[in-house]
Amino acid sequence: MNESARDELIRLALDAQKHAYAPYSSFPVGAAIRTASGVIYGGANVENASYGLTICAERVAASTAVAAGEREFTAIAVVSRGGVTPCGACRQFLAEFNPALRIVMVDSEHPDHDYQSTLDDLLPSQFDTGKLAEGKRPQNQIGR
Ligand code: THU
Repeated sequence: MNESARDELIRLALDAQKHAYAPYSSFPVGAAIRTASGVIYGGANVENASYGLTICAERVAASTAVAAGEREFTAIAVVSRGGVTPCGACRQFLAEFNPALRIVMVDSEHPDHDYQSTLDDLLPSQFDTGKLAEGKRPQNQIGR
């Protein structure tokens, strides 16, 4: 991803962060996911009085894209205070569509700096549709 593509992704994630609904955590998060066709979809976290129903920004962005007919993702930017990594649930959710997705993490207070990784690195040994079909244990798993 070149610099201008990265900057555009970050800008849209910053825009999306403004729409976060985070009255319980006061931790607004914005995400922007780029599709193979170059279109970018934004998302923000949406919390609920029943805390466990909260949806993270990454899953909102990816679901918005899927609902628009997109399934091929190349990169996602996530903007938050401190520039956190996506939570485990979001890693698994995103791995469904691209196990090697590029992830750009940004501290909203220092948006000029970013930290990049990939889903491969953040979620090794992903559970995927292939494993579901095979029903196999990992070779190195201990047990009967
Ligand atoms: N959150 C996200 O939206 N994405 C992340 O990567 C980490 C956590 C949200 C969930 C909740 O609304 C708030 O941040 C605090 O956990």
